[in-house]
Amino acid sequence: MLTIFPGWFAGPLTTSLLGRARREGTLDVRLHDLRDWTTDRHRSVDAAPYGGGAGMLMRADVWIAACESVWNDLPAGSTVGHVHEPPAEAHHVAGGERPRTVLLTPRGRPLTQALATELAAEPRLVLLCGRYEGIDERVHELAATDEVSIGDYVLFGGEVAAAAVIEAVTRLVPGVVGNAASPDDESFSSGQLEYPQYTRPATIRGRGVPEVLTSGDHAAVERWRSERAATLTRQRRPDLLGPDERT
Ligand code: ADE
Repeated sequence: MLTIFPGWFAGPLTTSLLGRARREGTLDVRLHDLRDWTTDRHRSVDAAPYGGGAGMLMRADVWIAACESVWNDLPAGSTVGHVHEPPAEAHHVAGGERPRTVLLTPRGRPLTQALATELAAEPRLVLLCGRYEGIDERVHELAATDEVSIGDYVLFGGEVAAAAVIEAVTRLVPGVVGNAASPDDESFSSGQLEYPQYTRPATIRGRGVPEVLTSGDHAAVERWRSERAATLTRQRRPDLLGPDERT
């Protein structure tokens, strides 16, 4: 992962299941500070846009140098090969293709469970977190293999979005979620929202638990859950259903 705020990830990467997976070696997440690839005294990563306008843009030279070292797993400052036009030649990685390189941006492909599953099948991902008003277009063209958005809203930068991608992807990595069967059971892999769930106590503020759940009738429980999941999905997220399932 490349960011100008590596410290931002201290919490997300060390907490809970993600933290444990990293400590146990199920998962290897490396943070790189984009500023390590700057060449000026001020370690500047941004510049004014050609053509004018408000705000600053992140510079392509810093991003490309950083991506080339990270693709090749080299320390800051050393690069192997350089990217050139046309974009197909951007695959300058010692020993083969560049890894899947995901630029987080509001204009990207929406993050869905299907995309998370696709990314989880990759041996290696490089996540690029942009900041400021945007990034020089040539980073999109030369470095990113994918552009991903986590929703139709604008964040200060890609860090929160990268954390979302990391969580969605790593919980699909075998061995990260204790019970191998559980990720499949949940919202979205089935194309539906999850059914409501209950645990102790049996009553709270006078409100009990649907009787069927304490009946011991497993088939009836399954029918109830599937009916509730279908109703919730129809009411709240009809867009998840096929055209003939919506009524
Ligand atoms: N950067 C800023 N906003 C974003 C969003 N919605 N998704 C991904 N990256 C972003």
